Amino acid sequence: MTLSALEVNQLKQAPAVDGVLPLFHHRWSPRAYTGREVSPATLAKVFEAARWAASSYNEQPWRFLVGVRNSDTYKKIFETLIGFNQGWAGSAPVLILGVASTKFSHNGAANGSALYDLGAASSYLTLQAAELGLATHQMAGYDQAAARAAFGIPEDYAMGAVIALGYQGEPATLSNEHMLAQEIAPRERNLLRHFVFSAWDKPADLA
Ligand SMILES: Cc1cc2nc3c(=O)[nH]c(=O)nc-3n(C[C@H](O)[C@H](O)[C@H](O)COP(=O)(O)O)c2cc1C
Repeated sequence: MTLSALEVNQLKQAPAVDGVLPLFHHRWSPRAYTGREVSPATLAKVFEAARWAASSYNEQPWRFLVGVRNSDTYKKIFETLIGFNQGWAGSAPVLILGVASTKFSHNGAANGSALYDLGAASSYLTLQAAELGLATHQMAGYDQAAARAAFGIPEDYAMGAVIALGYQGEPATLSNEHMLAQEIAPRERNLLRHFVFSAWDKPADLA
């Protein structure tokens, strides 16, 4: 006996805070996806959101390799995932690999913000996906060297994360007990006082 997709989606909602965009509290990372495909037009909207992320020098260092089920791109990304992630991510109809150019185009100097900016764009992507009723699940658990080789990604690009994207599925479709337990567990976060400081390790007074 487990929870349905609808029930678990409700359980994953963080409590609303007045004045904070509900989307931040609604987004969560399922491991179960339905077989429903994502249209190219919908994918374009998700990347449109990523497009407008801020970046150092407006370099926009992010690059996304997007693979839809049965494509070579999808297969290549899937094959680089660690076993744990292969155990669930194959149900997602779209796999995305994010990488970042580590050199500024205006002078060739090192861009120390490349991965920071890719992360920002990826966050926009995940939130836009949530707005469209899609779910995403980011993964660091993949073989970066294998992915670089599979796509011929140049050395001056840093490897980011893989993102599974699709429509949330029924938790019961997960075969692994550990995954199932995580799928139906409430989301947890640190309190503001644990990470917003006025001096090192001193909580800022926000009340
Ligand atoms: C950069 C990054 C790497 C992650 N890597 C993995 C991963 O390899 N496998 C996995 O199952 N989840 C992975 N996650 C998902 C996190 O565990 C998840 O986002 C976190 O527990 C918070 O849950 P929520 O997104 O539902 O709020 C990753 C998330 C991020 C942002």
